[in-house]
Parts: sequence; structure tokens; C-alpha cells
Amino acid sequence: MAAAVSLSAALHGEERHPQAQAKVPVDGPDSLRAHAAAVGLQIGCAVVPQLLDLSANAGNASATPTPDQDPYTHTVIEQANILVAENAMKWSSLRPSPATFAFEQSDKLFQFASIHGQLVRGHNLCWHEQLPSWFSSYASKANAKALLTQHIQTVASRYAGRVHSWDVVNEAVHPPDGRPDGLRKSPWLDLIGPEYIELAFTTAAKADPQAKLTYNDYDIELDTAEQSSKRGAVLMLARRLHARGIPIQAIGVQSHLQATGPRPGAGLLSLIREAAKMGLEVYITEMDVNTRALPGGPEAQDAAVAEVYKTYLDLVLPEPNVKALLTWGITDAHTWLNQSKQPWALRPDFARQRPLPFDDQYEPVPAFFAMRSALDRGRQPLVPTDITTPPKDSKDPYAPFAVPGSPGVPPQTPPHQ
Ligand code: XIL
Repeated sequence: MAAAVSLSAALHGEERHPQAQAKVPVDGPDSLRAHAAAVGLQIGCAVVPQLLDLSANAGNASATPTPDQDPYTHTVIEQANILVAENAMKWSSLRPSPATFAFEQSDKLFQFASIHGQLVRGHNLCWHEQLPSWFSSYASKANAKALLTQHIQTVASRYAGRVHSWDVVNEAVHPPDGRPDGLRKSPWLDLIGPEYIELAFTTAAKADPQAKLTYNDYDIELDTAEQSSKRGAVLMLARRLHARGIPIQAIGVQSHLQATGPRPGAGLLSLIREAAKMGLEVYITEMDVNTRALPGGPEAQDAAVAEVYKTYLDLVLPEPNVKALLTWGITDAHTWLNQSKQPWALRPDFARQRPLPFDDQYEPVPAFFAMRSALDRGRQPLVPTDITTPPKDSKDPYAPFAVPGSPGVPPQTPPHQ
């Protein structure tokens, strides 16, 4: 009830009732951090370490910046109990040259997190994007295995014992590339072959036996043909690794969602539950809601974005193996959706996007209250638990996940229709 009042206040408050100047409390006991802790969930966001003030010391309240002094640092401290570097731990940031590592920003992130009692996700050890500029001319079939192994050993051992989970391999699946295993044709695949994935996981496990080793990917949330196919290939990959004793402990579902179009549903629940059967945790790793295609002003954006957070979190949070929820940023002032000029980010009216729980001015928006209310509903299933029961005539309970077009599988297998 209180949350509903707050939601309405945040939607309509200051503009319509200028006399109501009192701010809705969202810090401390009213924060996402506190509400998530109450239901045993890690909650947090991607951060830019350069923007964090390290002198804000949790042991000395007066040194913690007020929202007026440093709203970014303030909000990250108040709202998150887990952080991930938006870019600072990618190869392009860590590897100025083949022979060197630059750990300044990632070290700063770990230091900040430890001062403020926050966990850290590592993102990421192996990806086809954001490779350093020297990579394409330097890496070869002769040195690629050593290059990958040395990078993972060096980075993962530096932070060993301090990482909640590592995105060991990011976005390795791309069924449109036409391979039966659904793998993406990437530099790593070209240079090493499909076993680069196993190599990355086994190397990470040796370097940091405590971190939960994660496979992370996007566009695996919806029940569309494309996303069902990709989700199937991700599950097949996880099963392959698991069956061969390769250390994988979690699947990361990025959750870059759209305000328009279909909503996630049964297929994603199936993925989460199939992961649970293998003993894998699931993390919502990069949630935001893109309003590129949504007409209307800020209020329309806010309402649509909040509705997506609500329905998505009501779907996934009741699943007991969903252990962490991170948004890709905390404020609209720092989100890739307001930085990119690409068609997938740019609105036709050139208005700023509002994909995150805090707006450009660090005011909580309806998405914040939708998140907090979803946390408050706890982890009780709102969706019938038999939603993923396969059709009676299906011989293979995992049939919805077979990759359309691969041997023995019809070109399209829409899930649960
Ligand atoms: C994005 C960052 O947010 C941008 O700043 C950067 O320019 C490109 O990468 N999937 C991922 C993230 O795994 O690393 C991406 O982050 C967003 C999509």
C-alpha cells in the first residue's frame, strides 16, 4: 500500500502538487538494498569506477557523500549490495598491450565495494566484443590459447576469493551464424575452436575456485522464435559443459528488455528451471528497459518501464535459484541507452531514455517502486508452477529448447503454444 502511494507520488507528486515538496524516502531501510536483503537476494548495478568517490568511507558517516554532494556515489552505496564494472574489467580496459595489464579502475572498484560491504561480479573474461585494438593483428592460432589462458589466470587470480561470480564467457551463442551447436562465429572460435569455452571455464576455476562461474547472454528472455532458438542453444551449451564436468555454476540472463513488444514468459521460466535441475544458479545481470519504440513523453515512458520491471520480476524472483538482480546502471544520467547514437538506442523524438530506477536527477522513478514492491512480494510464486509442463504427446520434455534448423529439429519450435 505504502509503495502504491509512493509510486503515485513519484509519478504525479511534485509537478501536480507543488506544495508536496517532501521527498519520498528511498535510502537506508527504504532502499532496494534493504528490501532485497530481506528476501535473501543480491541486488545492484553496473558502475563506472571513475565516477565513484573512494574517500566516501562507510565507517565515517560524515565522509559518505550526501545526494547533493555526490549523487552517483551516494545512490550506489545506498541501493546496491553487489556491483559490476560496466566496462572497466573488459579486455579493452584491462589490456593496453599484449604484455601489460591496467588494473587501476578494477582495483578501485573492489576497494570501494569492500568499504561499503558490497560484493562484486566480474565482467568478463572472454567475449568477442571490446577486445583491445592490438588484438586482431596480434592474436593468432598459434598464440590464442596461451593468450586466453594467461589473461584469465592473471585477472581471476588477482581477485580470487573476492568475486561473487565471474562472467567467464559472454555472448558465445548466435544461432543465425548457422552452426549446429548454435555457437557464434567469433575471434575466439576462429582462433581456438569451440573448445575455447571449456578452456575459459577450467582456467577460471583453477584461478578462483570460489567465484560462481557464469555463462552470460542476451536475447534469451522472450518466447519469440529467435529468442527461443537462442535460449535453446544456451541451454544446450550449459548441458554440454555440465555433462562433461566443466565447472559452470550459473547462467546470466542479461535482460535488456524492451518497453514495447512481447513480454518474457514460459520459455524463460523453463530455462531457469532447467538450470536448477543442473544445480546452476541464475543471475539477472544487466536489466534495463529500452523505450526507443515507445511513443509519448516521460510519464508514458516511466509507466511502461515500471510495468516491465513489475511483470519481469514477478516472473523470475519467485524462482529459488535466481540469486542476484543487477540493473545496467542505476541512473538515467549514466546508461548506454543514453550514450549510444545507434538505432537500437535512439528515440525518434531524440528524448532521453528512462530505463533505470533513478532518473537523470537521481530521483526515484516508478521503476524503483515497482522493483521494491516486487521484492516485498517476496519470492512467492505468482505464476502457476506447472506452466512449463511439456505437452502430453511430447517425447522429449526439452523439445521447446531444441535449436530450430539443427539436425532432426523442424525449422521452428515455438515454445508452449
Ligand atoms: C556495454 C556498455 O554499457 C557500453 O558502455 C559499451 O560501450 C558497450 O558495452 N552486453 C554486455 C555488456 O555484456 O558488457 C554491454 O555493455 C551491454 C551488452
